[in-house]
Amino acid sequence: FGVHREVDSHLKAHLSQKSIRRGSLLDDSLHRSSNGGSIRSDEVIFEQPEPLTKNSAVMEKILRQKSLRLQNQQKDWQESPEGQKMLEFRRSLPAFKEKDALLKAIAENQVIVVSGETGCGKTTQLPQYILESEIEASRGAACSIICTQPRRISAMSVSERVAAERGEKLGESVGYKVRLEGMKGRDTRLLFCTTGVLLRRLLVDRDLKGVSHVIIDEIHERGMNEDFLLIVLKELLRRRPELRLILMSATLNAELFSSYFGGAPTIHIPGFTYPVRVHFLENILEMTGYRLTPYNQIDDYGQEKKWKMQKQAQAFRKRKSEIASTVEDALEAANFKGYSLRTQESLSCWCPDSIGFNLIEHVLCHIVRKERPGAVLVFMTGWDDINSLKDQLQSHPLLGDPSRVLLLACHGSMASSEQRLIFDKPEEGVRKIVLATNMAETSITINDVVFVVDCGKAKETSYDALNNTPCLLPSWISKAAARQRRGRAGRVQPGECYHLYPRCVHDAFADYQLPELLRTPLQSLCLQIKTLQLGSISEFLARALQPPEPLSVQNAVEYLKTIGALDENENLTVLGRNLSMLPVEPKLGKMLILGAIFNCLDPIMTIVAGLSVKDPFLMPFDKKDLAESAKAQFASHDYSDHLALVRAYEGWKDAESQQAGYEYCWRNFLSAQTLRAIDSLKKQFFWLLKDIGLVDQNAENCNTWSHDEHLIRAVFCSGLFPGICSVVNKDKTIALKTMEDGQVLLYSNSVNAAVPRIPFPWLVFNEKVKVNSVFLRDSTGVSDSVLLLFGGKVSRGGLDGHLKMLGGYLEFFMKPQLAETYLSLKKELEELIQRK
Ligand code: CDP
Ligand code: MG
Repeated sequence: FGVHREVDSHLKAHLSQKSIRRGSLLDDSLHRSSNGGSIRSDEVIFEQPEPLTKNSAVMEKILRQKSLRLQNQQKDWQESPEGQKMLEFRRSLPAFKEKDALLKAIAENQVIVVSGETGCGKTTQLPQYILESEIEASRGAACSIICTQPRRISAMSVSERVAAERGEKLGESVGYKVRLEGMKGRDTRLLFCTTGVLLRRLLVDRDLKGVSHVIIDEIHERGMNEDFLLIVLKELLRRRPELRLILMSATLNAELFSSYFGGAPTIHIPGFTYPVRVHFLENILEMTGYRLTPYNQIDDYGQEKKWKMQKQAQAFRKRKSEIASTVEDALEAANFKGYSLRTQESLSCWCPDSIGFNLIEHVLCHIVRKERPGAVLVFMTGWDDINSLKDQLQSHPLLGDPSRVLLLACHGSMASSEQRLIFDKPEEGVRKIVLATNMAETSITINDVVFVVDCGKAKETSYDALNNTPCLLPSWISKAAARQRRGRAGRVQPGECYHLYPRCVHDAFADYQLPELLRTPLQSLCLQIKTLQLGSISEFLARALQPPEPLSVQNAVEYLKTIGALDENENLTVLGRNLSMLPVEPKLGKMLILGAIFNCLDPIMTIVAGLSVKDPFLMPFDKKDLAESAKAQFASHDYSDHLALVRAYEGWKDAESQQAGYEYCWRNFLSAQTLRAIDSLKKQFFWLLKDIGLVDQNAENCNTWSHDEHLIRAVFCSGLFPGICSVVNKDKTIALKTMEDGQVLLYSNSVNAAVPRIPFPWLVFNEKVKVNSVFLRDSTGVSDSVLLLFGGKVSRGGLDGHLKMLGGYLEFFMKPQLAETYLSLKKELEELIQRK
């Protein structure tokens, strides 16, 4: 406990050091310079345009010259042959016709809401219109436009596109900034960034000084960050009357946003799309000649029941949270119409009973063999589904000549080189099939799509506030999303859309998707509210567009108190303030801080990087056993997935130094790409920790530091608590239990899943997910004493408070004798502290 106290004073001492460059730290002091090299810069990445002071005539002159230079540059480019072609393209976009109306509305209103079909030019054009008009008005050098994107990949690809449209290199007047990576120069005036990056900037710069326009794109996605940002901006707009806010989206409930901002004007960009013929399951079956097994008991009762269902469905629509069951009801109703439908779990699509292949394959084969040329876009639920369908299709007997089919996957975390293939036109006679998640709904545009296949589901994180458990389940999409998916088919010529569900199921979908704020844990968000000094968490969140459940808010606040980020009065602690500076979840941030304090930073950074990038252990579908045993080698009686990751990573580093990294990865089913990402993230953590002052400024690296396995387990326990489950080894099985969920299971790829017994009384885990049962991902065994000393935070209600909280756990798990050990330990420690 003495240690804990020291920790706090240690942190305080560091925080008061003058050497902390808060600005550079918070804005992630890392970015690539415009010449492409990765450099560490001490300047704030969001360096602001020089302020325009009234009596500084010299400054004004410089700015005017800068604007003029920009203007001339553009002129030169637009007169070049490529520039002309680009200009022509830009002028052909529907947004161009609305350019003047848009600029006028922006000039006259503080907030506007813009909607328009995907591909009409919102993201690439509107920010440029603003930039161009500012340059023309000679304010170009002083303006600063920030456009947020919900995903890293879109921020990067859009900025690249816009720079190309302006005949510039990225990092000149257009740049981007995503977590821990960016490309921005001194003259950058239009910055595409993720919403998270803008929130981070608000930490150091509450007024967004120097920013002239904020554009929030894809606002309809209603991510947690976007909703949060809206609350903050709503208040900021009052303080900064000259700041402009533009909300953009393809499908949005414009009214909702407009009324949130006191009746802000809405502008719609009319777009042209070709008509799209829509097929629901009924006609698909008719058209393809496939049949579902008829349901043979349709009688009066069935008819009556169906009617009842429809009545219910109407009532349900009003209560969005129960919408899932409405769809289930609609399904049942469909059964009474003569279909026997069952969902095939792995592909989340309909499967005709009588046929071996599933419907999605059938529809694709039908298109490839019978339909006119044109690319196919398939909306699937997630990465796993995409991969397994891709495998199945690779040499599918019904698809014909494999060289005539170009199968591509499209997913948020793919590399940009892969991404480019998706946009390219295939060779003549080759059918491009893109298997995508819902990210292809709005944020990217694949121009040559003629056919869309929609399985009707998307993986959605949700949050079970009662059990405080996050869930990740495929759930039915909304009507707005279905419309959007359909629209992807009519971009270049009349298209076709195959919805793989009956029309009555579609009719039962919710109008819009539930915002993320209402379906995820709110811990990071609550921490951010406190760091930004936005007052009481619950009062702040009550001002949201659609406020979250009080229970979710309460859970999050409790969690932050438990880990010691907030004190009893909901004030930010020193730990909390430090956590908010690290761009990772609070628990991972806590591990980093403790790793630095306890001198075991290197392995902890490896793990935190691994947990925040993704798992480097590959589990190929067909070689799962081999892959699992390869992973098990790294576990060597540690009973820890986290330590296995450290071993695998260190082995890779060794192999790399002998130019054998690739072979090492191949042999051990590891992803070299992920390991490299972990490597670079580690470096960035190291710099950040230096900036906070937890690592010596002069330290070159931390490779020489402790690898003490016990210490590492202790740091896990402290970071991951209350993510803990008890272990009871039975004859043939191991029973695992958490306080909230009761019985839980381990994912099969955990090293602890394959062992006959676990010689630790507890497992700490990083994440639990409710699928059918509750599953734990990545766990590490810890001992009683580690739990006693490192579980929870001591200062919460003093030592006694800690005991009470832990006591609750110990009692629940029927280990009261531990409480006694704890009491005597506590006494000894208190005496020790006194003597000190
Ligand atoms: O944001 P919105 O969906 O309204 O459209 P956008 O992203 O601004 O794209 C406008 C047009 O630019 C699209 O129709 C594409 O043809 C083109 N574009 C492109 O060729 N390459 C990109 N990376 C992005 C857009
Ligand atoms: Mg867009």
